[in-house]
Amino acid sequence: MNEHVSDLVAIKGGVHQPTKHDSGHKHVTGQAVYTDDIETPASTLHAYLGLSTCANGTIEAMDLSAVRSSPGVVGVLTSRDMPASNDISPTHLHDEPVLADGEVHFFGQAMFAVVATSREFARAAAQKAKVEYGERPFARSVDEAREADYPNVTKPLTLKRGNAASALEAATNRLQGRYEIGGQDHMYLEGHIALAIPGEDDDMTVYSSTQHPSEVQHMVAHVLGVPSAAVTVNVRRMGGGFGGKETQSNQFAAVAAVAAKKFGKAVKIRPDRDDDMITTGKRHDFVVDYDVGYDDEGRIEAVSGTFAARCGFSADLSGPVTDRALFHADNCYYYPHVLLQSEPLKTNTVSNTAFRGFGGPQGLIVGERIVEEIAYKLGKDPLEIRRINFYDREGEENARSVTPYHQKVTDNIIHRVVDELEETCNYQARREAILAFNETNPIIKKGIALTPVKFGISFTATWYNQAGALVHVYRDGSVHLNHGGTEMGQGLNTKVAQVVADTFQIDLDKVKITATTTEKVPNTSATAASSGSDLNGMAADNAANQIKDRLIDFACEEYQVTKEQVVFEANVVRVGNQRIPFPDLVDQAYMKRIHLSAAGFYKTPGIHWNRDTGQGNPFFYFAYGAAVSEVSIDTLTGEYHVDRTDLLHDVGKSLNPAIDIGQVEGAFIQGMGWLTTEELWWDDKGQLRTHAPSTYKIPLASDRPATFNTKLVSWSVNKERTIRRSKAVGEPPFMLAASVVEALSMAVASVGNYAACPCLDTPCTPERILMAVERLRGRT
Ligand code: MTE
Ligand code: MOS
Repeated sequence: MNEHVSDLVAIKGGVHQPTKHDSGHKHVTGQAVYTDDIETPASTLHAYLGLSTCANGTIEAMDLSAVRSSPGVVGVLTSRDMPASNDISPTHLHDEPVLADGEVHFFGQAMFAVVATSREFARAAAQKAKVEYGERPFARSVDEAREADYPNVTKPLTLKRGNAASALEAATNRLQGRYEIGGQDHMYLEGHIALAIPGEDDDMTVYSSTQHPSEVQHMVAHVLGVPSAAVTVNVRRMGGGFGGKETQSNQFAAVAAVAAKKFGKAVKIRPDRDDDMITTGKRHDFVVDYDVGYDDEGRIEAVSGTFAARCGFSADLSGPVTDRALFHADNCYYYPHVLLQSEPLKTNTVSNTAFRGFGGPQGLIVGERIVEEIAYKLGKDPLEIRRINFYDREGEENARSVTPYHQKVTDNIIHRVVDELEETCNYQARREAILAFNETNPIIKKGIALTPVKFGISFTATWYNQAGALVHVYRDGSVHLNHGGTEMGQGLNTKVAQVVADTFQIDLDKVKITATTTEKVPNTSATAASSGSDLNGMAADNAANQIKDRLIDFACEEYQVTKEQVVFEANVVRVGNQRIPFPDLVDQAYMKRIHLSAAGFYKTPGIHWNRDTGQGNPFFYFAYGAAVSEVSIDTLTGEYHVDRTDLLHDVGKSLNPAIDIGQVEGAFIQGMGWLTTEELWWDDKGQLRTHAPSTYKIPLASDRPATFNTKLVSWSVNKERTIRRSKAVGEPPFMLAASVVEALSMAVASVGNYAACPCLDTPCTPERILMAVERLRGRT
C-alpha cells in the first residue's frame, strides 16, 4: 500500500490509490453505453457518406439518381445543402469542406451523404453514384509532393539557437542521413459516430464520439448558421480516441446535424471500419534529413534537420503537429548549435491529424537515430553516447540545459531514471551476454537497447491550457461532478473524481461521474496533449474547494469555532470536538441556505510561446521515462520477437498507479505497433489499400514482450504545482517504444559486425529487417 493512505481511517478511492477504472466492469460486460448504444427515437434516419474514387480532380458530373431511388432512401445531401457554411476547418484557413464542392483532393473524400430509413439501405445506396472526374496528377508522399512542387498546408516553423551551419563546417566529425517514419491509423475500437436530434426553434442536440465537444458544437453551429447556444454536444465516453477524434469527429457531426435539420428527424451516421480508415486522418509520416557534428567522445556539437510531413489535402492540425515534432527532436539531448525546420507538405491523401504524441514521437525517434549513428561511428555502446549528451541534471543547470526553443529544462531527472533502469534490469550484463550470443549464432541475432524519453506537457496553443468544472453537492452528501474533459478509456473521469473525493474527504463512490456536455461546462479544450487530468483535475478541485470553504465558514458560524477547528476527515467533519458525518453537515448548511454548487476554473501558469521567433516557454514541465527492450530476429526471414521489455516511467506523484501503469503499458504497445508492423499503403490510384485489420497489422496479445515489466518512478514528485503533484501520462510513454527499434537495429547490425548503424526506416516490418540484413550480407 501507498504511504499516503497509511492513516488509520482513509477514504476509499482517494488520490494516489490504485483504484479501478470507474467503467472497467461495464466495458467488459457490455454495459457501458457508447454513442451507438443510446436509445434512439423510432423515426431515426441513418446517413452514409459517398466517397470519391479519384485522388485529385474536378467533379465533372455527379449523377445521384440511382442513389435517390435506392430502397429506403429519404434524400441526399451535397455541399449545396449546407444551410450556412460548407466548412469544418479547425484552422482559420477554411480549407476543409464538409462535402466536396466541385473538386476532390484525395481518394475517399466525401462528396455526398445519403439518408435512408436504415443504415444498411443508406450504405447500399451510397455505392450507386455515377461520377465523372476531370483527373489531375496527384502526389501521395513527401517525395511526390516535393517533385510536384506542392505548397505547405500551413506556415512552417524554424527553431534556431547558435549557428548550426558554421558549427557543422567546423565540427570534429560529421554525419548526414535521411530517416523515413511511417504514419499510423488510430484503430480505436469504437469508430466515428454521431447522432443528431433536432429540437424546437434552432435547437440541435448531438451525441458525438469526440475528444472535443466544444469544437463539434462550434462546427455544427457554424454549418447550420445558428448560435452556439442552440447546439448541445454530449459525450459519455469514447471507445478510444488517441487523437483521432480531436477534429475528425466534426465531419460526421456536421452531416448528422444538417440531415437532422433538413428532414426534421433524428439522424445517426456511423461509417464502417474501412470507410472510417479511408476518410479520417492519421498520424503524419515524416521524411527527415539531418546533418550532425560531434566530437571524438560522441558529444553532439551541432544538428540541423528538415522535418517534412505528409499532411494530406488540408491543414487540420498539421501546424501544431509538425511544430511538436521539432520540439521533441532533441529528446533528452543538448544540441549546442541547432537549426530545425518543418515542412508541412500538402499531399493528395486524407488530411493527417493528432495521434498520441502529436508529432513528438516522430521528432524524438530522429534524435535517437542520431545518437545511434554516432555510437556506431565511434564503436561505443549507444547508451554511453546518450548519457554524455543529456541535458544538465535538475538543480545543476548550466549552459547545457537550454532547448532549441530556448526554454530551460529545470526538472531533468533522466540521469537518475536511466541509472535506476540500467541497474534494475541488469542492462550491462545482458548486453554482454547478447554480444556473446551473436558471436556464436549465425541465424538468430539478438539486440538490446535502452532509450530515454522527455516529453513536454502543455498545449503549444497557449489559450488551450484552461479548463472548467461544475460540482454540485446534494443534501444527502452525494456529489455530482462534471468537467470539460472527455473519457476515452484513459481513466480521466476516475482520476478527477478521486481528486474531488479527496478534497471533500469522502469515499469515491459518493462522487457521481457524469457525461461531458457543453451545457454544463462551456468553451472547453480538446481532451488532448495528455493534459486532461492536469487541467480538469485542477478545475474540479477549484470548484470543490469553493464549496468546502463555504462549508467551513458555515461550521465556524454555526458552532462558534475557528477555521482551524474545522477538519475534513474520512467521511466526517471534525468541528471543534464534535464529529459530524459529511452528509449531516451538508444538510445543516442547506437549511441555512448555503450555496452548495460551484463552477471551477483553472489555467496553466507561466507558459508562453512565440511561434514567429521560435522562442518561449511552451511547456509547464516535462515527463520522463526510459525503456529497455531485448529482441531476437531470424536473419533468414526477418521475423522477430520482443523477448523482454522493462519500462520505468515518471508520472510525478501518481494520482492512480493502477490507471497510470495501464496507460504506460498501452502506450508502449501502441508505439511498438507504429514502429514495427503498422504500415499504411496507397496504391498507384492514390487509394489507401490498408483499410481494415486484415491488411493493417496492429499488435496482438501474442506480440507483446514475452517478459514485460512496468514500473512508475517511485520517488518523483512534480516540482510544479500540478494536481496533487502528479504528471500527465497519456502520451509520453508512447515513445518508450523507440527501444524496440534500436534493439532491432543492434540485432541487424550484428550481421555486419556492428561496423555501421543499419538504415532502418519505420515501420521496421519483417520485410524491412530482412532487407537490411541482406544489404549487410551484400546480397542486394
Ligand atoms: N488511453 C486510452 N485508453 N484511450 C485513448 O484514446 N488517448 C491518448 C491517451 N491515452 C487514449 C488513451 C491520448 S492521444 C491522449 S492526448 C490522452 O490519453 C488524453 O487523455 P488525458 O489528457 O486525460 O491523459
Ligand atoms: Mo492526444 S494526440 O493529444 O489526443
